[in-house]
Amino acid sequence: MVKIFDKVFVLETATTTYAFQVLDTGHLEHLYYGKRIPINEEVVQAISVKHVSLNGCAIQYDKEHPALCMNDMMLEVSGRGTGDMRSPLAELVFADGSSTVDFVYEAHELLEGKRELETLPSAYAEGEAVQTLRIVLKEKYMPVKLELYYSIFSDCDVITRSCKLVNEGQESVQIKGLMSMQLDVNGSGMVMTSFHGDWAREMNRSDTPVKGGRVVNTSATGFSSNHANPFVMLFAEGSSEEAGEGYGFNLIYSGPHMELAEVSSQGQTRVLAGISPEQFSWMLERGESFETPEAVMTFSDSGYSKISQNMHRFVREHIVRGVWKKRERPVLLNSWEASYFNITESSLLKLAKAGKEAGIELFVMDDGWFGERNNDTCSLGDWEVNTKKLPSGVKGLADKIVKMGLMFGIWVEPEMVNEDSNLYREHPDWAIKHPSRCHGEGRHQMLLDLSRTEVQDYLIEAMSKVFASGDITYVKWDMNRNFSDVYSAALAAERQGELLHRYMLGLYRVMGELVKRFPNILFEGCASGGNRFDLGIFCYMPQIWASDNSDAISRCYIQNGLSYGYPQSVIGAHVSSCPNHQTLRNTPLETRFAVASVGVLGYECNLAEMKKEEVDAIKEQIALYKKWRKTLQFGQLYRIGGKLTGASLDVGLPGNNNLVEWNVVSEDGEKAVAVMVQETVKPHTSQITLRTKGLIPENMYHFTTRTLKHDIKLFGDLVNMISPVHIKKDSLVHNTVAKFIKMDGETEDYTLPGSVLNNCGVALAQSFAGTGYNQGTRVYQDFDARMYFMEKI
Ligand code: DGJ
Repeated sequence: MVKIFDKVFVLETATTTYAFQVLDTGHLEHLYYGKRIPINEEVVQAISVKHVSLNGCAIQYDKEHPALCMNDMMLEVSGRGTGDMRSPLAELVFADGSSTVDFVYEAHELLEGKRELETLPSAYAEGEAVQTLRIVLKEKYMPVKLELYYSIFSDCDVITRSCKLVNEGQESVQIKGLMSMQLDVNGSGMVMTSFHGDWAREMNRSDTPVKGGRVVNTSATGFSSNHANPFVMLFAEGSSEEAGEGYGFNLIYSGPHMELAEVSSQGQTRVLAGISPEQFSWMLERGESFETPEAVMTFSDSGYSKISQNMHRFVREHIVRGVWKKRERPVLLNSWEASYFNITESSLLKLAKAGKEAGIELFVMDDGWFGERNNDTCSLGDWEVNTKKLPSGVKGLADKIVKMGLMFGIWVEPEMVNEDSNLYREHPDWAIKHPSRCHGEGRHQMLLDLSRTEVQDYLIEAMSKVFASGDITYVKWDMNRNFSDVYSAALAAERQGELLHRYMLGLYRVMGELVKRFPNILFEGCASGGNRFDLGIFCYMPQIWASDNSDAISRCYIQNGLSYGYPQSVIGAHVSSCPNHQTLRNTPLETRFAVASVGVLGYECNLAEMKKEEVDAIKEQIALYKKWRKTLQFGQLYRIGGKLTGASLDVGLPGNNNLVEWNVVSEDGEKAVAVMVQETVKPHTSQITLRTKGLIPENMYHFTTRTLKHDIKLFGDLVNMISPVHIKKDSLVHNTVAKFIKMDGETEDYTLPGSVLNNCGVALAQSFAGTGYNQGTRVYQDFDARMYFMEKI
């Protein structure tokens, strides 16, 4: 809801207020962003920053305003050269070489509904009462306009912002930087939470105090990157899951981004988010306009959890689209870690059959099916099926898989080319590299120059052919290298700084066209795992493979990091074999399942060659997941405890040794699943209380756990404590006993009100602590996990 009075603009969501006003200089002064408050004339007078004198090194704005210094102001938009010494929203160079930028109010308009961006993916609203405020600013001396767009998503307390720069003059304007949003907050000392990593260890949370100077979260890889995800939070120091005021920000963009928090010399904090200006420049010719990506902002007065709830809802409702938006996602089996490049029609059919028997719904043929692709050195670009491996083609294989009662999916990596490929031999200039320098390669491959229309057209046709080549329900769209040698043979020298953004525009055109041509396909993004996990991709693809690392313990870190900004329905998570292929770590199958089930569950292991016992366990897991799938995929996740959520793991003290504790509550509050995972056992710390969040206090819930069967060999030679005859460890007798006798795990069975579960919690069965064992003991070892189920009765 937008209220406007006397050039004061008040943007209200369900629980927040955002306000700014037009000053008599024409500048937009930011007034407030926080918990919902009433705003009237007197409130505006009281909360706006006062200017009565200039101090010290201040630059007077102009003679008519002797006490006004731009550096003291809270602004919606800033440029260079007018006395504001902070990082600017707009950095432009005009044809005369000048770079002073001063935007002032010209007009505004209120649009009903969500205005979608013209050149970039953006949020959308289906029927909800979303309003968009358009403000037009003009540069005081130059013929350029800046349009600001604010869209208000009341249902999830989100406001999105973007800008459009229009060159109305005769001469070109160089854009050195144009950010999507600026938020000036009174005060300093907040903490920026950002998420960093690399391949196989994405999304590690990092908290950096913003007490002076700049704190920057940016990616320089050419993509949104696994180095620094565009989702960040800024909270008061000492905030936690449930306490503290702060903001969450994200960007609907897949290219190099920057989120910056800067404390001014006057103790205010400026936040900027948008395309990273570091590797960017753009020549805006007369009559042209330039749009920034859409930035997403939300506020919480009750800690990080509320930010996550708002962001999750926003992603589910206003980013993800198409037929799969609300559809439960199928449990898939992916061929990669089972076979790597070594696939044939018969080996794939064998794997698929084993998958079908275990309850798998979708079989995915990963890399290796085209050209001469027997390893990763060749064939990217040559999207013709390898008939030596698949004699009946993609169609023949897909038909056989579909006949088994499975859906069929395929892997592609369209944006790449290997030097050893027919495509590269025909079009060497289509690769991103400088023609006369030696170039770097990542995984033996180069990026195709998607800034070129002919390359985009080629990809649309080549992929359309692949996607129509059989009964294909799912596509995994991979992308496996960062940018280097940034140069386009098709761009003029002064336009080379445009390449990374033009690449994104080209990529979005290709993805947009393919999604339109194949509306029923479920697309899953992937970039060596989570190297492009961002809202730009989610506008086309409802899910992304979060990491190539499927080790359950690593995944706790990765998925917990993702959970701050992204819901489970967009996070691809697989159970793989052990020792894990990325870490060589062994974790229990139950733990791998528990962690992967807090996401879109898949399997990536050789089900055809696993022990019967393991396959039987997997069959049970899949059946259980299907029963709780709607809750697990589309319910609200709460981080309820564990080391990664800030609970103390003091050595030696009894208490919580868990790495993560998550609780996922269905939209109607009637079902919930809690998952907890322990990293390593701390001796004699056997009492754990599981206290939930998010249940409806008045509801009565049946609380149970999955009663596990434990291998007797887990206890080693302690077996002799209960055995009537002595058993030698690892002897034939020991192995035989283990085959036939399983130890029953603990049961938990209570009927409790939500208020008890939320406020007091359940004191779980005591875990094994060196003395005594019976059926009431929770065997809870290194890397163990438990799942708890709650259902309204
Ligand atoms: C990288 C992906 O992240 C993997 O899952 C797999 O698809 C390989 N590429 C295939 O080359």
